Amino acid sequence: MWKGIIREYPDFFKFSNDNNVVTILEGNTPLIPAPRLAEKINPQISIFLKYEGLNPTGSFKDRGMTMAVSRAIEAGSKAIICASTGNTSASAAAYAARAGIRAFVVIPEGKIALGKLAQAMIHGAKVIKVLGNFDDALKVVKQISEEYPITLVNSLNPHRIEGQKSGAFEICDALGEPPEYHSLPVGNAGNITAYWAGYKAYLDSGKIKNLPKMIGFQAEGASPIVQGRVFEKPETIATAIRIGNPASWKKAEQARDESKGLIDAVSDDEILKAYKMVSCLEGVFCEPASAASIAGVIKKSAQGFFNGGERVVCTLTGHGLKDPDNAIKISSEPVTCEPEMRKVLNVLGF
Ligand code: F0G
Repeated sequence: MWKGIIREYPDFFKFSNDNNVVTILEGNTPLIPAPRLAEKINPQISIFLKYEGLNPTGSFKDRGMTMAVSRAIEAGSKAIICASTGNTSASAAAYAARAGIRAFVVIPEGKIALGKLAQAMIHGAKVIKVLGNFDDALKVVKQISEEYPITLVNSLNPHRIEGQKSGAFEICDALGEPPEYHSLPVGNAGNITAYWAGYKAYLDSGKIKNLPKMIGFQAEGASPIVQGRVFEKPETIATAIRIGNPASWKKAEQARDESKGLIDAVSDDEILKAYKMVSCLEGVFCEPASAASIAGVIKKSAQGFFNGGERVVCTLTGHGLKDPDNAIKISSEPVTCEPEMRKVLNVLGF
């Protein structure tokens, strides 16, 4: 039985007392080959989807949260706090529930997907909506965690990044080596930082012999790293990555430069197109922000970026069910009719 990332990778995640480990058996998510998507985007490359929506709370955040909350318990903490565009808060709330401690989550009012809000609430977190964006929320929770005995579990907490390295380990374990390219959405920039650190840790331990190029994608309306300036009012349909001043900005640039990769922007239209494509062509439902990784591969393919023969892993960071509103908005409306065969067939076009 899978034991969760901490116990599956004990060489990388060391705990002197196993009782402090807080896990909901996160990790072990599938690396799904996406041949129909590749055929459509660029038949010369192979695309794999690291489907992080299948973690316990439906996003990659669980990998970091198991570490952050376990370390908090180890240190005797009784409460955690985070700012969030939704997924971190859902994960923090669930792991705090599991650990029997309190969770305080601060989210931007009106700008988080419905499913994520439901998660934070049902797990019993104290949810505070601020009249500002994620960056404003992060400032406040940082201040609080500095002055009160409440552990910050945003990715400024280094244990979050530690845990999220496990995504890279699993990809290397599945492929037997790293892919040539790893594509992912960039918001607060913790995940691109973590994957790169994970690949490097695997290289240092002799488990792999080379490293992938990291290619990250921000939404155009929230692309501070691409434009080299803070976005005071970030805007994108992909609310998970609606961030104007990423905490791990410099580390993401380091991952980009060391790996000889890139960080580029994709438009909301490109994100929505990729979101629909992966759902319709591969049967894999992710949230809009996750699809930025695929939108980026589409954009780069059109520019002739790939030579052919490369394997490209796209991390699909969160489950599509978290954001039903966007899925419904861009799909065709179901037709209503009487429960009679002739009428149903008529609607079906027979
Ligand atoms: N994709 C999803 C679904 C996310 O929720 C996030 C970040 C990202 C991508 C970007 O990852 O921040 O490590 O660059 N969500 C955070 C949150 C900010 O609060 O849930 P990143």
